[in-house]
Amino acid sequence: MKDAGYRIAVLPGDGTGPEVIRAGRQVLDALAEGAAAPWSVEEYEAGATYYRDHGHEWSPGSEAAARSADAILLGAVGWPGVSLPNGDIAGAGLIFGLRFGLDLFANVRPCRLYPGVRHRVSGEWKQIWTPDNVDFVIIRENTEGLYTPIRGALSRGGETEVAVDTRVITRKGAERVIRYAFELAKHRGRGAPEDHRSRVTCVDKANVLRGCQFFREVFEEVGAGYSGIDREYAYVDAFTQWMVRNPEHYDVVVTTNMFGDIVTDLAAVLQGGMGFAAGGNIGAQHAMFEPVHGSSPKHAGKNEINPFATFAAIEMMLRWLGDRRADVRMTEQADRLERAIVSVLGTGTARTYDQGGTVSTTGAGDLVAEAIRSGARR
Ligand code: IPM
Ligand code: MN
Repeated sequence: MKDAGYRIAVLPGDGTGPEVIRAGRQVLDALAEGAAAPWSVEEYEAGATYYRDHGHEWSPGSEAAARSADAILLGAVGWPGVSLPNGDIAGAGLIFGLRFGLDLFANVRPCRLYPGVRHRVSGEWKQIWTPDNVDFVIIRENTEGLYTPIRGALSRGGETEVAVDTRVITRKGAERVIRYAFELAKHRGRGAPEDHRSRVTCVDKANVLRGCQFFREVFEEVGAGYSGIDREYAYVDAFTQWMVRNPEHYDVVVTTNMFGDIVTDLAAVLQGGMGFAAGGNIGAQHAMFEPVHGSSPKHAGKNEINPFATFAAIEMMLRWLGDRRADVRMTEQADRLERAIVSVLGTGTARTYDQGGTVSTTGAGDLVAEAIRSGARR
């Protein structure tokens, strides 16, 4: 392996994207001080506002650079009123261009409640869920399902009469994402908080949809090869209530694209909000990591957005590079970042606006960067 290091392509994107990325870079810089930090960071302009100003989504050379990088860190894409000529959101060329273009088939979304993080329900702070009972991972299929670009509308005489989206489930698509889920359950090893059993839950709508019946068949086939891991099924509608009522039952959950999109936003509530929800879009050769919250135009430009989802996404990225390259330096860096996140949140004082506090985005970056530095000095 070359020791010039891993090339990390950073795409700040739109709205709050550049703000969380700035805080993320504070954290990456702190990790790089005086320790083994075998990476270089390259930042590129691209996204909806870039499209609005320049007429294309990617700045010159940025798409090729992102595609050839060792890992991609994405802030967020999308801006109100800016869309592509075909009606897609501007920024789709980044998020879907990379998910499909780099074949990032597994969208891995951990649902973990950190100590010190709270929930606001009807305007009040409540401790409904606890760190002891929220620790599972949802794997969302990321390259087919209802997001398959086989869709269209029939317009006659200027009037749209019908619109169709085609939900595609392939053996290849199902097989690899389900295998990813079982491998993850094996690798996590700790099982569900409830009983410490390793378990993969297949979330589908197999009582109605043919594609989901097929997804289940493949789940059964793949799962049969993992003797130490429990297999179970949940219809997606029932799953939403079980996940909220008994999150401790879940270890790894695997589901199709659109269901995964929906249930992961609900799962973010268990984590204390979208401000803590991180995701990795993982393929066989490439991966892109992102906070799940999107560009949040309402909060953009205020330096108030919660950057912890981005910190968690960076941790996932470092860990993925460490695992994939069997590079213990990267795994150690991921561990350092995780310890810093946990210690800062654990004080209960690093609260951004969404947690009822006044800590700014860069302020949270300072706190985590400082925790990284003092951890290194210990
Ligand atoms: C997500 C987002 C995207 C999706 C949007 C921004 C297109 O909601 O990553 O969950 O639908 O996949
Ligand atoms: Mn979503």
